[in-house]
Amino acid sequence: MNPDIQSIVASMTLEEKAALCVGASAWTTTPIERLGAPEMVVSDGPHGIRRLPDVNQMTTQSLPATCFPTASCTACSWDRDLIREMGAAIAEEAIALNVDVVLGPGANMKRSPLCGRNFEYFSEDPYLAGELAAAYIQGVQSKGVGTSLKHYAANNQEYQRFTINAEVDERTLREIYLPAFEKAVKQGKPWTVMCSYNKVNGRFASEHHKLLVEILKDEWGFEGLVVSDWGAVRDRVKALKGGLDWEMPGPQPRRVQQVIDAVRCGDLDEAILDESARRILGIVLKASQTPKGAPATFDADAHHALARRIASEGMVLLKNDGVLPLKPGQKLAAIGRSALSAHFQGGGSSHINPTRVDAPLDALRARAGDAEVAHVEGYPADDAFRQDLIDEAVQLAQRADVALLYIALPTYKESEGYDRVDLDLTAQQIALIKAVAEVQQRSVVIINSGAPVAMSEWIDGVAAVLQGWMMGQAGAGAIADILYGHVNPSGKLAETFPLRLADTPAYLNWPGEMGKVRYGEGLFIGYRWYDARQLPVLFPFGYGLSYTTFEYSNPRVSAKSFRDADGVTVSVDVTNTGAVAGKETAQVYVRDRAASLARPEKELKGFAKVELQPGETKTVTVELDFRAFAFWHPGYGRWVTEDGEFDILIGASAADIRHALTVAVQSTADLPCLLDRESTIREWMTDPRGRVVFEPLYAQMEAGLRQLLIGEEGGESTIGMDFMGMMGDMPLVSVLMWQQDRLPAHPEDIVDGLLAQARSLN
Ligand code: BGC
Repeated sequence: MNPDIQSIVASMTLEEKAALCVGASAWTTTPIERLGAPEMVVSDGPHGIRRLPDVNQMTTQSLPATCFPTASCTACSWDRDLIREMGAAIAEEAIALNVDVVLGPGANMKRSPLCGRNFEYFSEDPYLAGELAAAYIQGVQSKGVGTSLKHYAANNQEYQRFTINAEVDERTLREIYLPAFEKAVKQGKPWTVMCSYNKVNGRFASEHHKLLVEILKDEWGFEGLVVSDWGAVRDRVKALKGGLDWEMPGPQPRRVQQVIDAVRCGDLDEAILDESARRILGIVLKASQTPKGAPATFDADAHHALARRIASEGMVLLKNDGVLPLKPGQKLAAIGRSALSAHFQGGGSSHINPTRVDAPLDALRARAGDAEVAHVEGYPADDAFRQDLIDEAVQLAQRADVALLYIALPTYKESEGYDRVDLDLTAQQIALIKAVAEVQQRSVVIINSGAPVAMSEWIDGVAAVLQGWMMGQAGAGAIADILYGHVNPSGKLAETFPLRLADTPAYLNWPGEMGKVRYGEGLFIGYRWYDARQLPVLFPFGYGLSYTTFEYSNPRVSAKSFRDADGVTVSVDVTNTGAVAGKETAQVYVRDRAASLARPEKELKGFAKVELQPGETKTVTVELDFRAFAFWHPGYGRWVTEDGEFDILIGASAADIRHALTVAVQSTADLPCLLDRESTIREWMTDPRGRVVFEPLYAQMEAGLRQLLIGEEGGESTIGMDFMGMMGDMPLVSVLMWQQDRLPAHPEDIVDGLLAQARSLN
């Protein structure tokens, strides 16, 4: 602990400490001038700065800042360096706008494609989301500006987000909903973590000692402060006890008084308050070391250009029958409202006041040169059905060489605060696409949405589809760059695009009822679900097209057999076998061939992106550590590996595995014996220690039973031959009870004796 901070805390009055633990305004900490602790300013986040000029306001228009693409877009770049670069640019803007901490990134899992806030989150996969969240944090913090990793934890829907109780079993939490936070905390070291509004297994996240103290602070070593989501605290004293350091927003004099009273009457140990004050002061003083407002400007042009580059790396080419890239001189019909006014960000707290916004039509014309580009609206701003707009579009499309349909999911369908009710575009948009595709074979659909939309109704009729996401203020240029091949698309989906809503993992447990949402699908979200159910999808996780092709060869591992703690290095050569330069993201998945608990078919454990000239080959290398092979064992309450074979799957997407290698992992864990009086015969035989002490008796029991059955029936018995099938899932003690009269001791004493022996083995 920093001795200075400790001594400052020691010199603070109870009133000062209580005040420090509650915000002074909507966006600031309470300054303590006497001790040299200034106010600290925080602002949303995550894909740009939403700095309100007056910190006492929650919703007025914010100061202009660059609106970068949202997380569902940036995630598809699979590019840690690029996200780091974006983070650094956001930090420069934070400095110029007098912001100490940016409220982001969001590391929640996409449990359902319906979550209204999925556009702010990276992925359905915890490894990918964790890597990218860590990169974002590193980028921002490299400039001396803090981050707030949010929303911790199990905040995967907007429906009743302030109150809903997420019922998630421990293993699912550990393997799916926490690892992105864990990785971001350990690798990125965010200055702050924001707890979510919801309850997790019956307790508000803001009061959740297990999540905030035992796991986040103690186990993962988080050294910063925990801030509440805005308005997430119900009981200030309980929240302090649960590990919530800083309540936001303020001012909340009544809450401050509650803390003071609780200490005075002995309900709250002052040491708990001291610890929170220490954490807050630590961050406040760290933040004050980066001078703010100097310079008071940032390079808006450079950041706009960066936003364009990032957008072009995050967009995903989903379908292309050869119509793209466009040829110079082709006469274009640009159809759709979103060609004129870009749909580039989502609604809610992340809403940026952009420094400028490019219109897709202008960007297209800039790239089209002399070629004719005509535009019609195609669909209205609301959900009205306008056949006249469709007719007009059809006429234009007929006269063009290529029709470009700019389709944006309306904001009333997708925002923070509520979830989508379906995956669909509007009826008008679907009818428009179908009508245009009918008359124009070369129809290209460009979708702007924060999450997947259903396409089955129309995709077969169109020549190409580009997923443009919520692409940020400069995304228009990125679309034009990709359409014309100035940028070779390299984005790959960070989430599965399902065929139908009814196929999605949380379908039967969404969005919950009676105040609860049960995560009944457990570990199986995203591709883990579609793999397990063998369900076809529209586009798989990790998928995305390029204007070139890549070949994977010479897969290899540094060792065929290794100890779990040592891990292994996986390499593969990737060659650009096409005619243009391009980028490819090679993905490494791990499959456990046999485990004592159910495991997903495969899980992403590494990836690397390479840029290749035509004909060029590069070696891609990925390190797999202990965690790449481990699973959370609720019995032991820890990560474990088990001896055995694992497949290492190297692929271009979750559904396009190019090579598989098999390795043998030796578990080095010294696990305690989990057997007890109720353990079944099979459990005795699968437990390594149990087997050693029980095997002789097992052999006797099996032989005895066979004898008995043969004796009675005078022949071979199928029951007798399959002792384990018949008896394996019964408690040992119960089976012994049947033979009590023939045993030297009481069955309970026999089992207790075996237990003592098993537990004493190393
Ligand atoms: C959102 C947070 C945001 C905060 C401050 C909340 O409603 O959930 O993500 O950082 O408001 O605007």
